[in-house]
Amino acid sequence: MQTAKIVADPEFRIGEVDPRLFGSFLEHLGRAIYGGIYEPEHPISDDMGFRRDVIELVRELDVPVVRYPGGNFVSGYNWLDGVGPKERRPKRLDLAWKTLETNAVGTDEFCEWARRAGVGVYMAVNLGEGGINEARSLVEYCNHPGGSLYSDMRIANGRRQPHDIKLWCLGNEMDAPWQLGHKNADDYGKLAATTAAAMKWVDPTIELVACGSSHRGMPTFGDWEATVLDHTYDAVDYLSLHQYYFCDPVKAPPPLDTYFPQEPVPLGTYLAKPILMDDFIRSVVATCDYVRAKKRAKKHMYLAFDEWNTWNPRAGDLQGVNDNPWQVAPPLFEAPYTHQDALVVGLMLITLLRHADRVKIACMAQLVNTIAPIRTVAGGGAVRETIFYPLLHTSRLGRGTVLDLQVRSPHYENDEFDTVPMLDAVATLNEAREEVTIFAVNRSQDGPLPLEGDLRGVAGYGVVEHLVMEHADPRAVNTVEQPDTVVPHNRGDASLADGRLTATLPKLSWNVIRLSKAAGR
Ligand code: AHR
Repeated sequence: MQTAKIVADPEFRIGEVDPRLFGSFLEHLGRAIYGGIYEPEHPISDDMGFRRDVIELVRELDVPVVRYPGGNFVSGYNWLDGVGPKERRPKRLDLAWKTLETNAVGTDEFCEWARRAGVGVYMAVNLGEGGINEARSLVEYCNHPGGSLYSDMRIANGRRQPHDIKLWCLGNEMDAPWQLGHKNADDYGKLAATTAAAMKWVDPTIELVACGSSHRGMPTFGDWEATVLDHTYDAVDYLSLHQYYFCDPVKAPPPLDTYFPQEPVPLGTYLAKPILMDDFIRSVVATCDYVRAKKRAKKHMYLAFDEWNTWNPRAGDLQGVNDNPWQVAPPLFEAPYTHQDALVVGLMLITLLRHADRVKIACMAQLVNTIAPIRTVAGGGAVRETIFYPLLHTSRLGRGTVLDLQVRSPHYENDEFDTVPMLDAVATLNEAREEVTIFAVNRSQDGPLPLEGDLRGVAGYGVVEHLVMEHADPRAVNTVEQPDTVVPHNRGDASLADGRLTATLPKLSWNVIRLSKAAGR
C-alpha cells in the first residue's frame, strides 16, 4: 500500500485566514428565506417569526457573514418593495426563479435576523435592472445615521440605529445570459465603477466586490475579469468567483442547459473537480496581478469566492418552476446531500484555505434549504446535511494561519484528469491556542491511505483528536428520520511522537487531525 507524506513547519506560511472565508449566502429562492429562516407559524419561532432552531444551527457553524438577497433574484429586486409596513408591500413576479415574492422579509427583517444569528450582512445591490440611484439609496437607508430621505425612512420604519453594513457586492453574475439585465464586460465595468464611487461617497467605510465570472467554464472567463478590473481596479476591493460542482445529469431549459451536466459524472472525476477550483483561483489571481502591473498599482486585488458548493438539482427543480410558475416559496434545490458531496465540499474548503493569502471572503451557497447545509421541515425540525460537517470543522478549527504544507501522494488518473492525488490536505496554526489542525481527504475508492507527517517545529505537540467522516455508501444521506447516518466520529488513529505523525485515512474520508501543545505535555 502506498503512503502519503506531508511536511509542515510553522516557520513557513501561506497567510492569515480571514474569518469571512467561512461565510454563507441566503437568497430569496425556494424555501431559503420563507420556510427556512422565517416561519412565523412555527411553534418555536421568535417574536419576529424567525426559527430559533435555525438560528442555533447557524451559530453552531459560527458563520461570520451572509450574502443577501441574491443571487439571480437581486437582479430584479427593488429593495423599496421590502421595507415599511408589511401590509403595503407589493407582491412581485420574481423572473429569476419564476416565483411570487411576497416581500414579507426585506432589508430590515434580514438585518435583524443577522443580528440575532450573530452574523454580519454582505449586501448585494441590483445592477441588472437597477442602477446607481437604487444602490446608493440603499447604502443611505442602511448606513446613514439620519436626517436624509432614506435614513429617515429607516428610522420611520422603526430602526433608529443604522444597520452599518460594511460589505457590499455590485450585482450578481452579470456575465451570465440567464441574468436579468445581463451586460458585456465593458458596460458592466463602467456601471460598477460609477456605482462604486457613489456608494463610497455615501459611506467611505464600506468595502465593495465586483462581479467576476459565473464559473470557470464561461466563454468570456478571463477577458471578463481583465476588462471589468480595467474599469474598477481603483474603485473596488474584491473580485468575485462562483463555482458549483455537479455529479448527476439534469434536463434544464436553455440557457441553463450549458450550466448543468447533461451526462453523469463518475465519482473519481467528481472528487477531482476541486483541482479546477484551485486552477480557477490561480488564474483569477494572475489576471488581477496583470491588471495591477498594467496600472502600476500599489494595491492588490483580493478575491471573494462568494458562491461555491456542490449541487444536485433534480429535474423538477428546473422544469417544475417553468411548468407551474408564480408559486410562493416552492421547495427548490432541496435534494439531500450525500457523503460524496461532503468530500467534495471538504476538498473545496481545503482549496479555499490554501489560497488564504488572496481569497479573503467565501460564501457557501447557500445556508438553509436551497443547496444548503441546513434543511428544515415545515412545522417540524431541522437537519444537518452531510456538508454541514466539513464547514463546521473548518469554520471552528481552521482559523489562524495557513501553513505552507508540502504534500506527496499516490495518485490516479482518468479521462478528464491526468493526475489526481489521493490525498489533499491543508494545515492551520492557531498561535494563541498553540494548536495545529490538519484537514485531509482521502479520495481513494479502493482502500485506506496511510499518512506520514514530518511536523517540524511542533515536536512537543500531541494529538487532541482525529475526527473522521466515512461511510460505506458514497450516496448515503442524512434524513429527518435518520439524521445521524453520515456524521463524524473521533475514532481516527492519528498519533504524534517527536514531531512525526502517523495516521490512517479510511477510504473516501474527510479527516480532521487536531494537535496541540497541551496534548503533548
Ligand atoms: O445559488 C443559486 C444561483 O446560482 C444563484 O442565484 C446564482 O448567482 C447562481 O448561478
